[in-house]
Amino acid sequence: MTNRSTNYLFFIAILCLAPLIREFLFGLVSPHHHPFATTEDIVHTIIEIVAMALLGGVLILIDRRFTRDKSKELRVTQAVAIETLASLAEYRDAETSQHLQRISIFVKILGDNLQKDSPYSCYIKSQNNYIEDLVNASVLHDIGKIGVPDAILLKPGALTDEEFEIIKTHTTIGSDILRSADLQFQKRIGTQSYLALAFSIARGHHEKWDGSGYPDSLEGENIPLGSRIVALCDVYDAVTSDRVYKKAWSHEKAVQMIKENRGSHFDPIITDAFLQEAQLFEITKKNYIG
Ligand SMILES: [Fe+2]
Ligand SMILES: [Fe+2]
Repeated sequence: MTNRSTNYLFFIAILCLAPLIREFLFGLVSPHHHPFATTEDIVHTIIEIVAMALLGGVLILIDRRFTRDKSKELRVTQAVAIETLASLAEYRDAETSQHLQRISIFVKILGDNLQKDSPYSCYIKSQNNYIEDLVNASVLHDIGKIGVPDAILLKPGALTDEEFEIIKTHTTIGSDILRSADLQFQKRIGTQSYLALAFSIARGHHEKWDGSGYPDSLEGENIPLGSRIVALCDVYDAVTSDRVYKKAWSHEKAVQMIKENRGSHFDPIITDAFLQEAQLFEITKKNYIG
């Protein structure tokens, strides 16, 4: 039983006990009054107890409604603030805001699939609000791009090795920003938020299953699950989108490439989930063009 439920029960108990206590106290101060001496007294007290229980119930319903509205308002405010923060990076990028929208839908599709029936199901279920947090956190994966110069970020042609090294720093810049945001949140609220998940996604979404990714060359399950999920969604969306320097691939070509990279770039289990849901990816891509 939660703390809140215990408090509610305690509150109802106090209210229901009030008529009994009143009856006994009245008996103590008034020598002519004998508690529960008549049937009428007993009936009156029972009616009062029922009335108190009903009153308590109504007050609890009002309180629950108010708390729910308040926490919903907080979550929406938080989500809007995060989306605004994420769009700052997107405005400077060749990618559009639709990219973030698609990524959040893709990770929801994969997260739901993996939660249903996969070796990751237990882990996902054991985490509080994992999928909801993953959806919110995923839009921040490229937030570190705000620290990359325009000349490199918006360069239409191929990047030099040196420029590519600078692009890579968006993972560490982003994770630094989100780590300090998460620390601030913890200091003020006292609990962890999805910013901790966002931090690991920003840092790990360019890692590869075989250890050839960046910035930490992590391998296999050492790469956080959220990063592995976003990595696949991000690549699917990038290859099926037009860029100044390349034409968009067809959905079929993207699926084939992801299949071929199962176990090298991508987590095999997440790749299998993607292959099961590929049609939903294609529909999402068509519905959120831009
Ligand atoms: Fe990235
Ligand atoms: Fe991206």
